Amino acid sequence: MKPHLFFHIFFIPFYLILLSVSGQCQSDQQSVLIQLKNDLHFNSSLATKLVSWNPNVTDCCNWLGVTCSTTGQVIGLDLSNETISVGINDSSVLFGLQSLESLNLAANNFNFSQIPSRFGSFASLKNLNLSNSGFSGQIPGELSQLSSLEVLDLSSLFSFGTRSLGLENPNLATFVQNFTKLRGLYLDNVNISSQRFDWGQSLSSSLRNLEVLSLSNCQLSGPLDNSLENLRSLLEIRLALNNISAPVPDFFANFTNLTVMKLGSCNLLGTFPNKVLQLQNLQILDLALNKNLSGSLPDFPVNGSLQSLMLSHTNFSGGIPESIGNLKNLSRIELFVGNFSGPIPKSIQNLTQLGYIDLSSNNFTGQIPSFQMCKNLTHVDLSRNSLSGEIPRAIGQLKALYVLNVSRNAFTGTIPPSMGNLSQLESLDMSSNKLTGEIPYTLASLTFLSTLNLSNNQLKGRIPISNQFQTFENDSYLGNKELCGLPLTRNCPGSNIPTTENVPPFQESKNGYDWQFIFTGVGFGSGAAIVTAPIMLTKTGRYLWNDYTNKLVITICLVLGIRYAPCRLFEEDEDDEKETVSSDENSDDSEFESVADQSKGRYCVYCTKLDFSRKQAIHDAKCTCFDQTKLLSTSSSTSSSEAASPFTKL
Ligand SMILES: *[C@@H]1O[C@H](CO)[C@@H](O)[C@H](O)[C@H]1NC(C)=O
Ligand SMILES: *[C@@H]1O[C@H](CO)[C@@H](O)[C@H](O)[C@H]1NC(C)=O
Ligand SMILES: *[C@@H]1O[C@H](CO)[C@@H](O)[C@H](O)[C@H]1NC(C)=O
Ligand SMILES: *[C@@H]1O[C@H](CO)[C@@H](O)[C@H](O)[C@H]1NC(C)=O
Ligand SMILES: *[C@@H]1O[C@H](CO)[C@@H](O)[C@H](O)[C@H]1NC(C)=O
Ligand SMILES: *[C@@H]1O[C@H](CO)[C@@H](O)[C@H](O)[C@H]1NC(C)=O
Ligand SMILES: *[C@@H]1O[C@H](CO)[C@@H](O)[C@H](O)[C@H]1NC(C)=O
Ligand SMILES: *[C@@H]1O[C@H](CO)[C@@H](O)[C@H](O)[C@H]1NC(C)=O
Ligand SMILES: *[C@@H]1O[C@H](CO)[C@@H](O)[C@H](O)[C@H]1NC(C)=O
Ligand SMILES: *[C@@H]1O[C@H](CO)[C@@H](O)[C@H](O)[C@H]1NC(C)=O
Ligand SMILES: *[C@@H]1O[C@H](CO)[C@@H](O)[C@H](O)[C@H]1NC(C)=O
Ligand SMILES: *[C@@H]1O[C@H](CO)[C@@H](O)[C@H](O)[C@H]1NC(C)=O
Repeated sequence: MKPHLFFHIFFIPFYLILLSVSGQCQSDQQSVLIQLKNDLHFNSSLATKLVSWNPNVTDCCNWLGVTCSTTGQVIGLDLSNETISVGINDSSVLFGLQSLESLNLAANNFNFSQIPSRFGSFASLKNLNLSNSGFSGQIPGELSQLSSLEVLDLSSLFSFGTRSLGLENPNLATFVQNFTKLRGLYLDNVNISSQRFDWGQSLSSSLRNLEVLSLSNCQLSGPLDNSLENLRSLLEIRLALNNISAPVPDFFANFTNLTVMKLGSCNLLGTFPNKVLQLQNLQILDLALNKNLSGSLPDFPVNGSLQSLMLSHTNFSGGIPESIGNLKNLSRIELFVGNFSGPIPKSIQNLTQLGYIDLSSNNFTGQIPSFQMCKNLTHVDLSRNSLSGEIPRAIGQLKALYVLNVSRNAFTGTIPPSMGNLSQLESLDMSSNKLTGEIPYTLASLTFLSTLNLSNNQLKGRIPISNQFQTFENDSYLGNKELCGLPLTRNCPGSNIPTTENVPPFQESKNGYDWQFIFTGVGFGSGAAIVTAPIMLTKTGRYLWNDYTNKLVITICLVLGIRYAPCRLFEEDEDDEKETVSSDENSDDSEFESVADQSKGRYCVYCTKLDFSRKQAIHDAKCTCFDQTKLLSTSSSTSSSEAASPFTKL
């Protein structure tokens, strides 16, 4: 006898024990799954789970995506992200799996077909996930019979206009009335416009156990009804991009377990209850793009949990309290375009987790903190304020920094030579201040710098000489009367060229740019929806960038082993200075993806690039906007040549 057979015989009792514990697949269940696999159209070179379904190898309880009960009934089926396009209708064998408790068909492409009504027949179903699966049309009323449901996810990343899922008949009220056990309701981008003002009541009267309510961009209108106060268990509420047109009620301050509140672009009115900001468990607060929402920042609790504070484009006013230093987990502060004023508190420099701070276009005054403990800081934008004093020397210790914008303030003194240590720096804008002295020669070692603006200061002397510095255009240095040397036409008096001995040589091969376009596939629409990042075709898409696209790109980047630095929310350039895509802006190795915001009659061009040699993706902070006509002419010349080729590169 062969030794290995011996070995197996010896272990047979153990195998039997194992099998009985995990449950051996019942043969009827197995044949249903095999039939299902045969019915489904999927791309077998991309799918990972279905291709493993082989009755000759193991029994079905061990197949990827299949979960069994101890008696061998299939109770869980996860066929998410399997490139399925066709194969489930009301006569599908899938509906033979009557013990299913969890069904996940997310991230497939059912080609805008209707959700089969027999999904409503899974009497034991607790978890139904059809997110981003490309279903469209009215959500069948039969689904509302799923009275055991705990989590329902019918959301999608994007709105498909008239082809989005909708809840009209039944409407939201009828649809949810039997979901008494529901803990999570995700209907982002489902059209619920038929439920005008009473959506709050509909939800609060049925869903007493709700923990997650995610209804972004559902075309809801009408207020945050007082009855929502009954949803005391809420952990997350996301209602961005609906037309609420009402104030945020005070009772949210009583939701002690609330961790996420996202009400961006909801046309909120009145004054935001600032006690919400003091909730001990709140991690993410996003109220951006509510122009008519006023409020102020209260004292923050000791050991508060806040991680992201996003209040840009609101009417919040007043200062940032010193107690912001209590928020040890704070990693993202976005307060741009608002009415904030007063000094930036020193305590900010104690926030070790801080990675991103944008306070631009407010009326902050006084000196800036050194940020010396913020070792993770990658993005600092303090532009367009009334800040003064010197740029702190300690800024040179922020080794992770890749965007620094302090333009349009009243900074004085010299540019600290320590900034030559900011080896990751990608974009440096110190324009329109009162900076004096020479440009420190150390800056010549910033080999990753791709945007530099030192214009409109009182700098003097010779522009440092490096491979990098002479590639910037005149514009980078204009408005400094006493600056001389290339690329300016003004020659320097004398010829004592500064020594370069402390400057590391520029190594083209090692540090040179290797930009490539980022192309990402969205789960939905595997073929057609291979899109470029950023995927911001609409105002909606732009707003959701932080939420969704980042995740998407991060996923892609992780797959490619690349670090991704997320971008900021784009604002239209309110500036009167006209920025243009200059044809000589190194157009051979960059970047552009043109994206239209047609509602405004203006186009914005976003620039996302991927540096393969550095394994990092960067969204260019410089977003430029154009009149329609201008862009149409530039994009037609760039998109054809540039957009086509990178497809082949990846
Ligand atoms: C399956 O995916 C691969 C890899 O993307 C592709 O080359 C192939 O054409 C796809 N097959 C079908 C039938 O779509
Ligand atoms: C989806 O499947 C593709 C391969 O088909 C894989 O590259 C990707 O990582 C998967 N996405 C997720 C979110 O699992
Ligand atoms: C299973 O085995 C049978 C007989 O050996 C073979 O005909 C069949 O193709 C196999 N099925 C799969 C999916 O490999
Ligand atoms: C369901 O799809 C199968 C093929 O996949 C087709 O033969 C059948 O007619 C369809 N049934 C209905 C009710 O559409
Ligand atoms: C998707 O649906 C359209 C019409 O609704 C049809 O023409 C097309 O062939 C379908 N695509 C696939 C992959 O089934
Ligand atoms: C639904 O499935 C997708 C893909 O597996 C997953 O990303 C998402 O988090 C799931 N939704 C819920 C509510 O768990
Ligand atoms: C809710 O459940 C009740 C009792 O089981 C049933 O009569 C009613 O039709 C259900 N409503 C919906 C919308 O399914
Ligand atoms: C908040 O969470 C705690 C711990 O999970 C729980 O005991 C408590 O009931 C929750 N509060 C509400 C109002 O749901
Ligand atoms: C918060 O809850 C307390 C006690 O339950 C109650 O007295 C108070 O009125 C509530 N506040 C709001 C704004 O609802
Ligand atoms: C920073 O934290 C330390 C220790 O917690 C504290 O002593 C110091 O006062 C803080 N600095 C500022 C500026 O808040
Ligand atoms: C910086 O961020 C990383 C990951 O985001 C984290 O692990 C690390 O603790 C942070 N560093 C500091 C000093 O907080
Ligand atoms: C900014 O604040 C200063 C002093 O507090 C004030 O004089 C000035 O008018 C403010 N500017 C704007 C634009 O609000």
